Amino acid sequence: MPGGRMSLLDEAQRVRKNAHAPYSGFKVGAALTTRTCRVFAGCNVENVAYPEGTCAEAGAIAAMVAAGETEIAEIVVVADSPEPVTPCGGCRQKLAEFGSGEMLVTMATLGGVTVTRTLKELLPGAFTTHHMANG
Ligand code: THU
Repeated sequence: MPGGRMSLLDEAQRVRKNAHAPYSGFKVGAALTTRTCRVFAGCNVENVAYPEGTCAEAGAIAAMVAAGETEIAEIVVVADSPEPVTPCGGCRQKLAEFGSGEMLVTMATLGGVTVTRTLKELLPGAFTTHHMANG
């Protein structure tokens, strides 16, 4: 796979095992590379107050920003699901904050099925600073 996506998948699978998902039982792992070629990973972290839970993608983004990086080149998300799990709407918007519409988002199952889409395909018409130009 181009862009080192194999190792990103390995990293997403590794971090997925650390997911805290006692309520849904659905563990998710995400690993991203920055334009500077650094890798950051995150897993979902649920909470007994359900809305306080965070997605795997949000964890990876937080780790990236905490390390001083702001530009995502590519992300892989993996879960034990019959079909590859797509990032939720909120996470699509979070990804748009730190990358272009051409960003590759690879969604994978533990069984080895992968689907790759651009962020633009997953979030057409994204809200951007452009929309606030008159504000
Ligand atoms: N989840 C993620 O972490 N990423 C996704 O792309 C889809 C959903 C998590 C949130 C929650 O902890 C669990 O999966 C079930 O929705």
